[in-house]
Amino acid sequence: MTKIPDSAFAPPQIITGKARLAGVLGWPVSHSRSPALHNYWLRRYRIDGAYVPLPVRPEQFEAAVRGLQAAGFRGANVTIPHKEAACALADRLDPSAQRAGAVNTLVFEEEGRIRGLSTDGGGFVASLEADDLPVPASGKALLLGAGGAARSVAAALQDRGVQVSVTNRTQARAESLAAVLPGLEVVPWEAWEAGLGVYDLLVNTTSLGMEGGPDPMFRPSLKAASRALVVADIVYVPRLTPLLAEAEQHGLKTLGGLGMLLHQARLGFREWFGQDPVVDAETEATVRATF
Ligand code: ATR
Repeated sequence: MTKIPDSAFAPPQIITGKARLAGVLGWPVSHSRSPALHNYWLRRYRIDGAYVPLPVRPEQFEAAVRGLQAAGFRGANVTIPHKEAACALADRLDPSAQRAGAVNTLVFEEEGRIRGLSTDGGGFVASLEADDLPVPASGKALLLGAGGAARSVAAALQDRGVQVSVTNRTQARAESLAAVLPGLEVVPWEAWEAGLGVYDLLVNTTSLGMEGGPDPMFRPSLKAASRALVVADIVYVPRLTPLLAEAEQHGLKTLGGLGMLLHQARLGFREWFGQDPVVDAETEATVRATF
């Protein structure tokens, strides 16, 4: 069971008959830290509202969304496996969602209309910036992986002028990504370690290195890296992935995945609850306490 800690920093939650409501749809959803995060912010800002986990099977996704609209929810986050279905269901997509081909944030608007946003890539870039690791415009980034997370991170980096390359075990999938994001370069999976010297930023967008994932010991060689390389991992359990440990051993700057998780949530919170929430040490400690 995920324990939502009694925060020393935030007062008790207010939920009256007028509470604003949002939640996260996923299958499964029990691993999600979004309820802990959003309810912490609700308490911190003394907002009358609640954010709940919504376990919804794929075949029930649309019915569940319509039900939430009918029940007066402001919107919802969407996680695995519903991100593409959410994209198809939305009446209007923000440019972020169009580029990412997926939606992780739904905003319920007037007359039953639904707006879809993708905040993962923007959350990643915000997390870099918050750690004083600004993305060099006209710099070069290499992404490991070609799934949904890679697509949103690649799009957000390209939007900031970064030249993005992708490498993936299954090259055809990287090529499909390049077909929808023009300008994306594909690097063969067997060749990326040796060619690392030309990049300013390396991002693992796969679940390699994640506790309980396909290869928790994933620790590629960073011998060829330039001294200025920033190494980021979107995996946040464990906090120090083997990839990040390897980067530290080479004296490289690193960024863990928790920041992306926290920053991607800000836009939804602002849309549903009307307040731009802060991501600071307190926020991070509150979510960390749930692991
Ligand atoms: P998401 O949408 O969260 O990115 P995904 O679409 O399942 O998740 O993508 C997972 C990524 O991890 C893919 O790039 C996948 O590579 P393949 O396209 O070759 O499957 C990568 N991945 C998963 N397990 C891997 C492994 N054991 N070795 C290398 N790459 C792996």
